[in-house]
Amino acid sequence: MKNKWILFWIAGIFFAGTLFAAAAKEKKSGGNELPIIPVPVKVEQKSGKYTLRADTKIVAKEVEAKAVAKVFADDIYRVTGWRLQVVPAGTGIVLRLDKRAKTGAEGYELDVSSSGVRITAEKPAGLFYGLQTLRQLMPAEIYSTKIVKDKVWSVPAVKIKDEPRFGWRGAHVDTARHFYSKEEILKFIDAMAWHKLNKFHWHFTEDQAWRVEIKKYPLLTKKGAWRSDILTRETGKRFDSKKITNHWQKGLYGGYYSQKDIKEVVKYAQERFVEIVPEIEIPGHSSAALYAYPEYSCDGKAPGWPILGGGVFGKIYCAGKDSTLNFLKDIFSELCDLFPGGYVHIGGDEAPKGAWKNCPDCQRRIKKEGLKDEEELQSWMISQMQKYLESRGKKIIGWDEITEGGIPKGCTVMHWREYTDKKIAPLAGEDLIVATRPTCYYNWGYAKEDQSFLLSQGGIMPIKQAYDFEPIPRGLDEKYHKHIIGAQACFWGEKTPNEKILEYHYFPRMSCISECTWSPTARKNWQNFEKRLQMQEKRYKAADINARPLVLPADYKPY
Ligand code: ACM
Ligand code: ZN
Repeated sequence: MKNKWILFWIAGIFFAGTLFAAAAKEKKSGGNELPIIPVPVKVEQKSGKYTLRADTKIVAKEVEAKAVAKVFADDIYRVTGWRLQVVPAGTGIVLRLDKRAKTGAEGYELDVSSSGVRITAEKPAGLFYGLQTLRQLMPAEIYSTKIVKDKVWSVPAVKIKDEPRFGWRGAHVDTARHFYSKEEILKFIDAMAWHKLNKFHWHFTEDQAWRVEIKKYPLLTKKGAWRSDILTRETGKRFDSKKITNHWQKGLYGGYYSQKDIKEVVKYAQERFVEIVPEIEIPGHSSAALYAYPEYSCDGKAPGWPILGGGVFGKIYCAGKDSTLNFLKDIFSELCDLFPGGYVHIGGDEAPKGAWKNCPDCQRRIKKEGLKDEEELQSWMISQMQKYLESRGKKIIGWDEITEGGIPKGCTVMHWREYTDKKIAPLAGEDLIVATRPTCYYNWGYAKEDQSFLLSQGGIMPIKQAYDFEPIPRGLDEKYHKHIIGAQACFWGEKTPNEKILEYHYFPRMSCISECTWSPTARKNWQNFEKRLQMQEKRYKAADINARPLVLPADYKPY
């Protein structure tokens, strides 16, 4: 009898130990999360499932809700061939706009049961994000670019309450060093939307090329949109950028986005709640513009081709000539007409100010305006553009170098360099977007052994490092946190001449910036994210996105 009791106790302790170990393991792995990226704030799994059918209705009453429903219906049609009807009342997938829902500007509540789906949100963006979550609950093939036959489109029953951590959830693409087609930009924006990212930072100009049509100055694209060396410029031979696999291959190639293209992209992005933030670099990174219009530089001479290096070695706009300021205002004016969003990015990084030191016009300006030096001249020039852009209802953003002549009032700073001192915008009461290198620089390689490293600009930045990124600078007093409006990933294209390579670098890391900017820190969990990435990889495959495989096969050819 006594032995029996001892055995009973031993078995009990063993059982409790096993349970404890399983619970600890479960906690470490983040539990049995549904494969949603970014992970939602609160998920309550229920029993049962809902199955989409050809006669499923989307119920939407208001004009805005109907517009959201239509984008979802089009996505479903492309894959299933079913034209889901949008109706004002009834059952099915019900979209409810409710001012009292307390979901915030972009949050939502999603309730899936066997009898139907209900998404409630204060604002249309919330309905859109609720539908994106619904899509992620379906089989990965729902992201397919073609019809998928004989699939059951079921969704597990669940209750989700969700809202973003930050209002700025951005992705930047340098389309200047190399040109990526309009179709690629649309594809990229679509992917951003299902990662719940909402700011597309479109980098249009560089030393190497100018990519946006400006009607008043046609030479910007006629001359400035094509990269070349002298030989091929003479023969006029154009290269198809898709055929170029090495960034050092010489040739005249490129392209630009016409104003018609841009209108199409803006509309597409608006339908997906993505605001486009256009960037025209001033005063540096401007050799391509000054190749087309040399009269706006200090010495009036066009830079030679090819434009080697660029950035700190390139040409700079003359800040002393009024004609240069008028030229830039004309350009920003057309930009304001094209982009309805609230922000314009004016660059400001790595400006080579040497030419200003020897320019009589620039020196005269310094004296006349009572400026201390060339740093303050840059601040002055930017403030001129800021005044103009604010008169057009826009806020300006600049890279963190714009703070070097003093932190400009009313300007949002985008920090790309590591924080080296306390001179950061929130301390001066200004907004900050965190895009710090290397964790936000998706042009860096994944690993040394990865062939993509050859076509990476920068060092190594593995997926885990991208995932571990924390947007709030360490040690920043809590009272300044409200000025960190968000974060974004950046992609510099010096070495990435085609879309496949762009995609390889951005995906799956886009999932990292997505979760880092949307999900609460307490919900982030690397082990669990890794598991969810497996489903995300299937989605990338379905969407024909050239994502880097999670497990790299030997001798893998990335593109
Ligand atoms: C930058 O990387 N120069 C913004
Ligand atoms: Zn000058």
